This record gives sequence, structure tokens and C-alpha cells, in this order.
Amino acid sequence: MAVLVTGGTGFIGSHAVVELIEDGRDVVILDNLSNSKECVLDRIEKITGKRPAFRKVDLLDMEGVRGVFREFPEIDCVIHFAGLKAVGESVAKPMLYYHNNLTGTLNLCHAMEEAGVRRIVFSSSATVYGKPDSVPIREDFPLRTTNPYGETKLMIERILSDITVAYPEWSVSILRYFNPIGAHVSGLIGEDPKGIPNNLLPYITKVAGGKLPCLSVYGNDYNTHDGTGVRDYIHVVDLAKAHLCALDRAAKVKGIEYFNIGTGNGYSVLDIVAAYEKATGIKINYKIVDRRPGDIDECYADPAKAKELLGWEAQYGIERMCEDSARWQKLNPDGYGE
Ligand code: NAD
Ligand code: UFG
Repeated sequence: MAVLVTGGTGFIGSHAVVELIEDGRDVVILDNLSNSKECVLDRIEKITGKRPAFRKVDLLDMEGVRGVFREFPEIDCVIHFAGLKAVGESVAKPMLYYHNNLTGTLNLCHAMEEAGVRRIVFSSSATVYGKPDSVPIREDFPLRTTNPYGETKLMIERILSDITVAYPEWSVSILRYFNPIGAHVSGLIGEDPKGIPNNLLPYITKVAGGKLPCLSVYGNDYNTHDGTGVRDYIHVVDLAKAHLCALDRAAKVKGIEYFNIGTGNGYSVLDIVAAYEKATGIKINYKIVDRRPGDIDECYADPAKAKELLGWEAQYGIERMCEDSARWQKLNPDGYGE
């Protein structure tokens, strides 16, 4: 038996592959390397002592996807990370995002059904809750999105839901991630965004490493304890572990289930800056600038359902997340390099 991990050389996928291998599971990675590098496989091997099978395949290439299922008949479940994820880029290039994320997922589902593989864990996002009416956010809150990226997540959730209606043998677990940060404790794998980072932690680590001069804090007039935006940051290793729990749950339960994967704690931008400074002893230069369009005041999870049904709960706090991000940055100042 083996797990097919789409997007397995990416940030979250690579951490999930490490957890899967360490749990004794066989892994096949499918990735087109559009936002990751093949050397991630060397790093995974260094950490785990085992090199996962890897096929450079684009999910848009239907024959290529079919070929992976044919070549590895032991695949009996899928974790589907592969997708494009930059909110701003999705506004500028909606066709690219809809085509890549939706067509890619449809091809994957076709190939799964043909191969008789009917268990999938899907990477969704807290972005499907849009601006919530209240916090903490429960899974039954209204769904609304504000950009094409978020729309692809919501549409894929609906596609997978319809599949479970038409094909009652399918088991689908939708994991709605809050804000993944941190890195593996080894410092061998981590987040390696292209160009100037959009997200808070990668930006802070670049400032700490002297690669960027100053963090712009987007607004200090939000309705939060210090005026800066509040999010539910979750350690990527905790997040990775949730996928193993979801795979096991889906092996027992048919149909579709939705889970928030967060810590349940909200921290502001300035809380994170302070935690990073405390964890590393490095001063982070920052300035307050205008709000970033589309940002919301507060977003954090009620993770009770994941605890009850998946038996999963986050273990790491923000200081540990910052320490691990900092170690990754220090050991790999240019990410995975060229
Ligand atoms: P990532 O970009 O590091 O990893 C995604 C991987 O998918 C990359 O390796 C990329 O090369 C691959 N990929 C993209 N399109 C593909 C295609 N058509 N065929 C094959 N491979 C393809 O992103 P990540 O941060 O690891 O995110 C993983 C998943 O989690 C994504 O679906 C993302 O939308 C979702 N998610 C991420 C966050 C976050 O903040 N990082 C939050 C919520 C949800
Ligand atoms: N922020 C700054 N300066 C920066 C970057 C971010 O002040 O340079 C602030 C933002 O305004 C926000 C907080 O830091 O208050 C977090 O911002 P991120 O960009 O790190 O994360 P978001 O919550 O905006 O979005 C992330 C992912 C989305 C995903 C969402 C919910 O980027 O793809 O979490 O899962 F949809």
C-alpha cells in the first residue's frame, strides 16, 4: 500500500512526506516542480533515510497522471497538495488558477476512479470562510471567498462533495488550513518562496537574515488587541501530522468530512514579531503602513472537531514555530538555491 502525494516537493507536502515515511508508509510523489525543487528529495532522504519515489508529472497531463497509477498499483490513497496558492497572482491570472487547480484536480479524480483509488485528503484553506461573522471559526460557518484562489478551493470542495454523492465508495477529507509557518527541526526543509515573500513569516525571516531591510506591517487600526491583524499560525509539522490522522479516518468513514486545522489561538502581527525576536535575539525592523486590500481583522480556528474525530491537536506554540523558521533561514539563506 502506498500514498500518492501530489505537490509532495512543496512546502507543506515535503513535511507531510517526512511524517508519512517516519510512520512507515510508502510514498509516491507527483509534482511538476512549478513551485518546488527536486533537491527536496535529497533533503527528505537525509532526514528519514529513505528516498520517496518521485515522478515529475503535471496534473494537467491526464495521460501522465494515469501513468503514475498504472506504474504504482500499490497506491491506495492520495493526499492532494498540488496547486497554485498566491492570492494576488490569482487576481492577476484567474484563468491560470482556475485551469491549474480545477482541471488538475478533475484529472486526478478521473485517474483515481479509473484505478479504483477512492480515498483522498485535500488541502483547503481558511480562506473559504472569507471575512467571518465571528471567531473562533467553526466548520459549519458560511462559506464565501474574495479572490480566484479562494474560489478554486471552494469549487474543489464542491467537486469532491458531488463525487461522494455520485460514488458512495469515496472517502474525502477536507482539511482547511489556517496559517502554516515553521520548518522541520532539522533545518533541512522549509518554505522557499520565489522572489519577495507575500506572507508574514517568510518576510520576517528575510528581514532577520538581512535580505530585506524592513517589514511593512499592513495596518494598525484593525479591531484587535493591538490593532494589527490576528491569525492562527500553525507549525507545518503539526499540520503535516493532521494528514496522517485524516488518511486513517478516511479509511474508516465513507463520504466527505471537513476539518479546521489550526491551533485555536490568534496572534497579531506584532505578537509574531515579538515572538521571533524572543526566539532568535534578532531585532526585526518594521514600519506601519496602510492596510493590504482584502485583509481581515481576525481569523482563528475552533479546532475541536479535528480533536474529537481525528484525534489530532497542535503541539507547538509560536516561539517554537519562530525558532524553526529561523533555523531554516540560517542554514539556507538562499532557500534551496538554484
Ligand atoms: P507549494 O507551492 O510549496 O506546494 C505546491 C506544490 O504543487 C508545488 O511543489 C508545485 O510545484 C506543485 N504543483 C502546482 N501545480 C501543479 C500541477 N499542475 N501539477 C503538479 N504539481 C503541481 O505550496 P504549499 O504551501 O505547500 O501548499 C500546499 C497546498 O496547501 C496548496 O494546495 C495550497 O493552496 C494549500 N494551502 C496552503 C497554505 C499556505 O499558507 N501555505 C494555506 C492554506 C492552504
Ligand atoms: N502581514 C504584514 N506584512 C507582511 C505580510 C503580512 O503585516 O509583509 C500581515 C497581514 O496583513 C496579516 C498577517 O500578516 O494580518 C498574515 O498575513 P499572511 O499573508 O501571512 O497570511 P494571510 O492570513 O493573509 O493568508 C494566508 C495565505 C492564504 C490563505 C490564508 C488562510 O496566504 O493563501 O492564509 O489560510 F488563504
